[in-house]
Amino acid sequence: MTSGRSDISDDRTMFETAKPLAGRVALITGFAGHIGRATARLLAARGARIIGVDHPAVDAAAVSEGIDVTLLSADVCEEDQVRGYVEAAMQVSGQIDIFFNNAGIEGAQASIPDYPTADFKRIFAVNVLGVFLGLKYVLPVMQRQRSGSIINTASIAGLVGAANMSGYIMSKHAVLGLSRTAALEAAPFGVRVNSVHPGFVDSRMLTDIVHRLGAADTSSFADAVPLKRLATVDEVARAVAFLASDDSSYMTGHAMVVDGGVTVG
Ligand SMILES: NC(=O)c1ccc[n+]([C@@H]2O[C@H](COP(=O)([O-])OP(=O)(O)OC[C@H]3O[C@@H](n4cnc5c(N)ncnc54)[C@H](O)[C@@H]3O)[C@@H](O)[C@H]2O)c1
Repeated sequence: MTSGRSDISDDRTMFETAKPLAGRVALITGFAGHIGRATARLLAARGARIIGVDHPAVDAAAVSEGIDVTLLSADVCEEDQVRGYVEAAMQVSGQIDIFFNNAGIEGAQASIPDYPTADFKRIFAVNVLGVFLGLKYVLPVMQRQRSGSIINTASIAGLVGAANMSGYIMSKHAVLGLSRTAALEAAPFGVRVNSVHPGFVDSRMLTDIVHRLGAADTSSFADAVPLKRLATVDEVARAVAFLASDDSSYMTGHAMVVDGGVTVG
C-alpha cells in the first residue's frame, strides 16, 4: 500500500476541481502500465479512491509515486488470484464503483504460420480469460450494489485486422464481444459495461510492437493517423473517466474509439 498526493497537473478540464467521482472506488488492473497509471491519476484527481492491481512480478510501488493508491498483486489469468483481488478490494473499501479491466499484453508479431502457439495461448490467457475473470468476480459485487461502471480495455485491434498481429487482433475482438454480452447481462441491475478502443498510443507497448514489426520508430504510425500524431495516455484516460462517470449514464455496450480517426476511412 502506498500513499501520497494525487498529481492533477495534467488534468486541465472543468472536472479538475469539481471532483465528480468523490466517494467512488475505482479498481484498476494493469495499474502499473502506462494507460493504467494515467487513468489512475485522472480518476484520483476527479475524486475517486484508487485500488490498483498488477502482476506479482511487477514492482507497482516503484511507479506509483504521486498517486494515492492501494496496491494489490494478482495474475489476472489465475482465477483464485482474481477472486482474491476482488475480495481484498472489498475488504479495503467495501464497494467497487468503477472497474477498469485493463491489464493486457501485445503478444508476438508474426504471420499466422509463424505465430508461436504458446504465444497464442498466453495472449488469450491474459487479454481474454483475464478480462472475463475480472467480470466474473466484479459483476456480482456491482449487481448487489445495483450500480457500477465497468470499462474493458480493447483496442482498435478489436475493430479491424492487422497483418502479423493475429493473436492480439483476435483477443481484442473477443473483448468487444464480451463487453457487449456483459452489458446486456448487467443492465437489469443498473450496471453499465463499455469498452475503450485506443489506437496508436505513445507508450512502451506501441514502441515495442513497432520495433518488432521492423520499423525504426513510431513516425510511420503517426503519419497514418488522420490527426497526424499518436494519442497520449491522458487522452485515453479521459475517455475512460467519461465512461466511469455519470456523464455517460445512458451508455452501455458502447465501443468508445480513441484513435485520431484511424478506423474511420
Ligand atoms: N499502448 C497502446 O498503444 C495500446 C493501444 C490499444 C490498446 N492498448 C491496451 O491498453 C491496455 C494497457 O496497455 P498499456 O499500453 O498501458 O501497456 P503496459 O504494458 O504499459 O501495461 C499493461 C499492464 O498490464 C499488466 N499485466 C500484464 N499481464 C498481466 C497479468 N497476467 N496479470 C496482471 N497484470 C498483468 C502489466 O504488468 C502492465 O503493468 C492493454 O490491454 C493494451 O492491450 C494499448
